[in-house]
This record gives sequence, structure tokens and C-alpha cells, in this order.
Amino acid sequence: MNYQHWIQHFHANRLDRPEPDWEAPFTMPEEKRRLLALSLAEYQLGDGGGECCLVAVDAESYRGSTEDARQVVDLWFAEEHEHSRLLGRAVERVGGTFVTTTFGFELFYAIRRRLGVQFEMLVLLVVEIASTGYYRVIRRHVGDQPLADMCKLILRDEARHIDFHRDRLAFRYPRGVGWVWKWQMHLLAEACGWFLWHGHGRALGALGGTRPELFGHIRSGVVNFLAELEQCRAKAGRPAREPHAKQWLQATS
Ligand SMILES: [Fe+2]
Ligand SMILES: [Fe+2]
Repeated sequence: MNYQHWIQHFHANRLDRPEPDWEAPFTMPEEKRRLLALSLAEYQLGDGGGECCLVAVDAESYRGSTEDARQVVDLWFAEEHEHSRLLGRAVERVGGTFVTTTFGFELFYAIRRRLGVQFEMLVLLVVEIASTGYYRVIRRHVGDQPLADMCKLILRDEARHIDFHRDRLAFRYPRGVGWVWKWQMHLLAEACGWFLWHGHGRALGALGGTRPELFGHIRSGVVNFLAELEQCRAKAGRPAREPHAKQWLQATS
């Protein structure tokens, strides 16, 4: 696993981060604003808020395996913390109220803590794919440039986080992942999608997003990820050339 590649990426990614123009005038119909505020406040907690690190009981078996691994994990979570900061500005923009805990957050934490670091990172990968759907829907429908710009910035980061997981898993499974592992990922993504829609569907719907739209992003995200993982493995563990980043560039050009 080429950790140095990812250390360099995370350092370089700290540069060239255009801050959304939070002071731009803000107008939004009240009901839409209220629902979006609730949703963003929950996401502010979930995406890099709270305890922002690997929390599995055996987390150090991965994070502490080498100095490079420790640096990559810490840089990855530093970027997640930055998402929480951006979402905090978004919450302030829409006049929301910050939350410190939710049932979903506690459940997510308990699952991550108890089921081991490898499962925790799989769950985080699935959440990152599902979150990509959430941010894409908001970016497309929100009708507010600073919020759309924030989504664009987070989507850029998340695309590379997903690529990091692809490289990590290609290294961990040099002979490929089996159908049980793949279906485990599909099932986790479906569960995550339903949980996401249950908690945020009203806000996404108020903006004009739909459940098929969200699930379309999530399902295609998993299918693309598994295809890229197989490409990586077929190249004898050599990482493919940043396909998620390429998709992001195509989607935003
Ligand atoms: Fe994030
Ligand atoms: Fe992420």
C-alpha cells in the first residue's frame, strides 16, 4: 500500500480550497429552510463532528500498524473534521440549531466501536458513498450558491476518500473480494440509503430531490466502486488512475 501517495495527496488537498461566499444574500422559502436546517445540523455532527477518528476497540491495529498508516488515517479524519466546519457554516447560513447527539449518531458510533476496525472502515466507506448521494442531491436542487459550492468541495474530498478505500482494499485482498463481501457491501449501502432517506428525505424532498435520485447515486456508487476495485486488483495491486476523481471532474466541468 502506497501510503506516501495518500500523505502527499492530503497535504496538497489543503491548498486550493475556495471558501464558499457565506456572506452572500440568502433567501429560501421558510419550510424549505427549516427542513434543510434540521438536516444540515445532523450532518454537521455526523460528517466529522463528534469524536473524529477511528473508534473501533482495535483501531490501533490498523492506524498504528506503521507511521505512514497513522499519518494517512489522521489526515483523512482531519479532512472529515473540515467537512464538519463547512457544514457548521452552512447551519449558521440557514439559521439552524446545532445538535450534539442523535439516535442515528449513537447507533453509528456503537456499530463502529464494537465490530472491529476493518468493519468500521467498510461502514465508513459505505457512508461516504451514501453521503456522496446526499451532497449531490443538495448541490443540484438547493438553489443557493454558497451551499452548492460547499457540496462541491466536500464531493471533491469524498471522491478521493473513496479512492483511498479502493487502494486499501485492493492491497488487503490481492486475489479480489468474493460475492459474500460484495453483497455485504450492497446490503450495507441499501441499509444506509434507507436510514439516510428516513432521516433526511423530508429535507431532500422539500428541495426537489427524490428517493430514486438518492438511491440511484448510492447504487451506482457501489457498482462503480466494486468495478474499480477489481481493476485495481487486476493490475496486481497497482492503484487505478483516480477514476472517482475523474468522474468528479466530468460531473463538475
Ligand atoms: Fe466527509
Ligand atoms: Fe470522507
